[in-house]
Amino acid sequence: MGVDATFMKKIFLISFLAMALNAQAQVVVSVHETAKDQPVIPAEIYGQFSEHLGKCIYEGIWVGPGSSIPNVDGYRTDVLNALKALKVPVLRWPGGCFADEYHWMDGIGPREDRPKLVNNNWGGTVEDNSFGTHEFLNLCEMLGAEPYISGNVGSGTVEELAKWVEYMTAENGTMAELRAKNGRREPWKVKYLGVGNENWGCGGDMTAQYYSDVYKRYALYARNYSGNSLFKVACGASGDDYEWTRTLMKNARSKMNGLSVHFYTVRDWNHKGSALQFTPEEYYATLAYSYRIDEILRNHSDIMDAYDPQKTVALMLDEWGTWFDVEPGTNPGHLFQQNTMRDAMVAAVNLNVFNRHTDRLKMANIAQIVNVLQSMILTDGPRMVLTPTYHVFRMFNVHQDATFVPSEASCGTIVSCDGDVMPSFSQSVSRDSAGLIHISMANPYLDKAVSVEVNFDELKPRSVSGEILKASAINACNEFGKAPQVQPARFNGARVSGKKLTLTLPAASVVVLEIK
Ligand code: AHR
Repeated sequence: MGVDATFMKKIFLISFLAMALNAQAQVVVSVHETAKDQPVIPAEIYGQFSEHLGKCIYEGIWVGPGSSIPNVDGYRTDVLNALKALKVPVLRWPGGCFADEYHWMDGIGPREDRPKLVNNNWGGTVEDNSFGTHEFLNLCEMLGAEPYISGNVGSGTVEELAKWVEYMTAENGTMAELRAKNGRREPWKVKYLGVGNENWGCGGDMTAQYYSDVYKRYALYARNYSGNSLFKVACGASGDDYEWTRTLMKNARSKMNGLSVHFYTVRDWNHKGSALQFTPEEYYATLAYSYRIDEILRNHSDIMDAYDPQKTVALMLDEWGTWFDVEPGTNPGHLFQQNTMRDAMVAAVNLNVFNRHTDRLKMANIAQIVNVLQSMILTDGPRMVLTPTYHVFRMFNVHQDATFVPSEASCGTIVSCDGDVMPSFSQSVSRDSAGLIHISMANPYLDKAVSVEVNFDELKPRSVSGEILKASAINACNEFGKAPQVQPARFNGARVSGKKLTLTLPAASVVVLEIK
């Protein structure tokens, strides 16, 4: 997993030329902290997704109590601690495509008695079902995360899903007795229930019309027990399939609390490209393609507005992130990819976009939490690294449950070689319950620092502190057994003058400021 030398030369050349030309862009950000009645940014926008896929669950999270890898009741200690620091608000499980072939009863009871399963979606790996409902819901409790269960609609019955809900949440009755026999007397609180996943594809290959009827049937029998109130999420569109959203809103909106959508940063499904070796053109193309999410969220929201002007149904982007070729030598079905400063830029730009869509967007779950696609964490046996994406999520978690503050930036645009257009600067602002203002910013230019002037409506900051994430090369990553190449540092470069802040963002960097 080395860093490509030719690529590095190109980057150095570009950086050198940029310095020689004293290339520096100027951006003015206007922050309207006096604006009234702004939405709260749901913490769930910073949500995570964990599927039975490759080394996400097994090895990544769960090693079992008998493992030589240090663990707490079977959960690996290093990963658990890193996830606690991240403040994971919600965790989706068990899939993904896996969910529509998962039979939850195989994952309860004594672990040694649980049947083996073949993971048909992901490499045919044989799993021992040692991580099941108890292990997942207990993990959520340890992390303080809301569980988001994806139910099996594609190959499971209505009764199976109904009983799963009862098993998890009912205080009394046969399912509650079974749960108690398996070691858990108290029911868990389970808020989010996904009724199937990608039912237009791996979740049953259904049409929108057919699925909307199926959805209503499965949702009907997923009952509320013992004070637990389910937030039911219907399977949504892939990317810009607006017809799916229209059909679901037309036929089932009164029966759903949320409608999902999936969007991956993949420019060409037949040539996804390397996670580590890419040209500057590919970097900009990836970032600008990813920025399509802004339009996709807006278009789905507009359709939902037409059927639901009161915004009672939430939009849930329950899968998103970069998807590159697997690392050479790894199982193609395990979707294990490295994670570079490019992924950090994608994460920052996306999270800034999500913060602006929260009147309709109530959850987003990056795919996936450990060892799969755009992960927070990578493991290799007992070794673990935090990815650049992890650092962005940790830096941005100050926005969770904070009040959105409108802002705009006077910046230009970047047009990629694919013709995608994105702003040449990315920012969002919030105010937390203690009154602290946080501004998250990203400078996507590879070859230009950006000098930023931030103007508040009225606020005269008393102090400002911050963190910065940058690297010596855009394809820098954190590798097992080596000193991290990408990790946040304190940022002391912001200057206050009256209602104004000034700072310089280095090329390809992410900065989060805290303002008192
Ligand atoms: O995240 C990997 C897969 O991508 C999920 O299982 C599926 O829902 C999507 O196609």
